[in-house]
Amino acid sequence: MCGIIGYIGDHDAYPFLIKGLKWLEYRGYDSAGMALFNGHLSIFRKMGKVADLESYMQNQEFGGKTGIGHTRWATHGEPSDNNAHPHGSMNGWFTIVHNGIIENYAELKEGLVNKGYSFRSETDTEVLVNLMEYFYNQGTEICAEDAVMLALSKVTGTYGIAVLCSQESDCIIAARKGSPLSIGIGKGQFLIASDATAMAGFINQVVHLNDGDLVVLKKDSFTLKSISNKPVSVKISNIDIHIGDIGKGSFDHFMLKEIHEQPRVMEDTLRGRLQPEKSDIMLGGLISVMPDLVKSERIIIVGCGTSWHAALIGEYLIEEFARIPVEVEYASEFRYRNPVIGKNDVVILISQSGETADTLAALRLARDKGALVIGICNVVGSTLARDTDAGIYTHAGIEIGVASTKAFTAQLTVLTLLALKLAWERKTIGSLQYTQHINELAGVPEKIRQILLQSEKIRTIAEKHKSVRNSIYLGRGNLFPVALEGALKMKEISYIHAEGYAAGEMKHGPIALVDEHLPVIVLAPRDENYEKMASSIQEVKARKGNLIAIISEGDNDIREWVNDFIEIPETLPALIPLLGIIPLQLLAYHTAVYRECNVDQPRNLAKSVTVE
Ligand code: G6P
Repeated sequence: MCGIIGYIGDHDAYPFLIKGLKWLEYRGYDSAGMALFNGHLSIFRKMGKVADLESYMQNQEFGGKTGIGHTRWATHGEPSDNNAHPHGSMNGWFTIVHNGIIENYAELKEGLVNKGYSFRSETDTEVLVNLMEYFYNQGTEICAEDAVMLALSKVTGTYGIAVLCSQESDCIIAARKGSPLSIGIGKGQFLIASDATAMAGFINQVVHLNDGDLVVLKKDSFTLKSISNKPVSVKISNIDIHIGDIGKGSFDHFMLKEIHEQPRVMEDTLRGRLQPEKSDIMLGGLISVMPDLVKSERIIIVGCGTSWHAALIGEYLIEEFARIPVEVEYASEFRYRNPVIGKNDVVILISQSGETADTLAALRLARDKGALVIGICNVVGSTLARDTDAGIYTHAGIEIGVASTKAFTAQLTVLTLLALKLAWERKTIGSLQYTQHINELAGVPEKIRQILLQSEKIRTIAEKHKSVRNSIYLGRGNLFPVALEGALKMKEISYIHAEGYAAGEMKHGPIALVDEHLPVIVLAPRDENYEKMASSIQEVKARKGNLIAIISEGDNDIREWVNDFIEIPETLPALIPLLGIIPLQLLAYHTAVYRECNVDQPRNLAKSVTVE
C-alpha cells in the first residue's frame, strides 16, 4: 500500500505528480503529499484524499521540474498532515517518499537520537531519511547515492522509495525491496511509480525494478544497479495503457460499473481459451508446464482476501474434476509456517494486483522449496506475473473499486477452465461431461446479465436491512466460499458485521445469533445440497431469522419460506458460484450506498496491500 510517483524532465513536475497520485490513490488514501525542487525544496502534505492536497496546493506557490509524491495508507503513525509523506531529514538535505515498513526503525531511531537527531513524525520513514543524511555527513567522498545505499544496508523490512537530495538536485534516487516500482521512459523525461499505470499517457516504455534494484534518474539518463552497487541488466518493456478513458460511465461508483462489467469480463477471460467448436479448452500460458501439472501429486492454492475465496472455490473444482488433492492457504499464514512442499507439488498463487506482499512472499517460499509456481493474476507485468514459472491472466481489465468484484469472477472463470482442462488431460472427466461444461460455460455471461437486471429489486431488499449491525451468510459445497465472499463484500463497504458460514456448521454456534433482527442470506439454488439448505432455512425460520434466499429461477418452494428471494438462472452445479456471487455483490453495494459509505474507497482499506 501507499503509492509513489516521481518526475524529472523538461516540464513542470506538478501535473505529472498530481495525475499519478490520483491514479495511485487505490493504494492508500488517508493522506497525500509531494515535494518539488525549484532551486529549493518545497514540501506539501495534507491529511485526506489527493483532492484535498490538490485544493490545498491551489493556494500555494510552487514550481519545479523534479518532484516526488505519495499517497499514504498509515502503518506507523495515525493519518495526519505531520505523518504524511514526503518526509525530510533533520537538516532538510534528503526528502523521501516510502512504501513499506522499516521493521528495525526503533533501534535505528535510538541510534540516531543518540547522535543528536530529532524527529517530527511518528513514522518509520523519517528514520530512514535521517539515516541517509547521517551517512551523507560522514565524509565529502560520500555522494547522495552512496548515502542511500548505506542507509538501506542497515534496514530490515520492505521498501519502495524515491529520494531527493537538495545538495544533488539533478536526480531522483529510487530503490525497491518488496514494494513495486517501475521507471517510465519518456521523451526528455523519466517517471517512477508504484504502478506503471500511473504513468500512462506520459511514457510508452517501462523498466520494472526487481527486488534489490536501485536507480538514479536524471533528466536525460538513468542508471540501474543493485542496492549493493553491483551492475544490473536493464529490461525495457513497451506498455500500452490508456487510463484517460477510464471513468464511471453512467454509474455512480466504480464498483457498480465493475459489477455490471462482469458479463463482458467473463467473455474476455474465456476468449480464445474456451473453444466450444472444438469442445476443448486452451490455456496458452500453461502449455509449457501442463505435463508437470497433470502429474502433480498435490496443488496448494494461495491468496489473500477475495483471491483466497476464489482459491477455495478452485479447490472444489479441481478436486471434483481433476481428482488432485488441493489445499488452500492464506498467503500470510503459509509464508510463516514452514509448510511441507515437495518437488511434485504445484503452488498456484492468485492475486488481482500481482503485488500483494504476503502472496509474493509465499511465491518465493514455494519456489525455494522446489515447487512449480503458477500465477493467476490480473495486472499484466506485475511482480507475480513476472516471477512465476507460468500463469494465466484473468483479463478483467483495470479494477478500481477497492472491493474486488469483476476480478473475482474472472479468477473463478480461470479456475473453472483450469479444473476442466486438467481433468481432461488426466482423463478424469468423460468427453460428454467435458463438452457439457464447455458449452454451459459459454452461456454464463448471458446468465449474469439476467441477474444484473434485478439490481433494482436487490436495492429494495438492501433498503430494508440498511440499519442492521450483523448478518450471516450461509452456503454449502462450492457455495460456502461464495457465502464468505458475500459477507466480505458487506463488511468491506457497508461496515456491517457479516459472517460467512458453511450452512452445516450453523448449529454449532451461529444459530445462537438468530432472532427477528438478523438477516440470514442463504445460497440455496437447486444443486446437490438443495435439500440440506432447505433444512437450514427452516431452522432459521423457526427462530424468526430474516431470510434472504438466492434461489434457482422458478423455485416455488423456498420463496414461500423466506422474507425475500433473488432468482438466478439454472446452470451446472460447478458453475453456480459464478452466478451466486452477483446478487451478493449488488446487495453489499446498495446497502453501502444507503448507509452513505464511501463505496469505492472504504475506510482503512487499500486495493493493493504491499505491506505485510
Ligand atoms: C486487499 C483488497 C482486496 C483483495 C486483497 C488481495 O485486501 O482490498 O479486495 O482481495 O487485497 O489482493 P490481490 O491483489 O492479491 O488479489
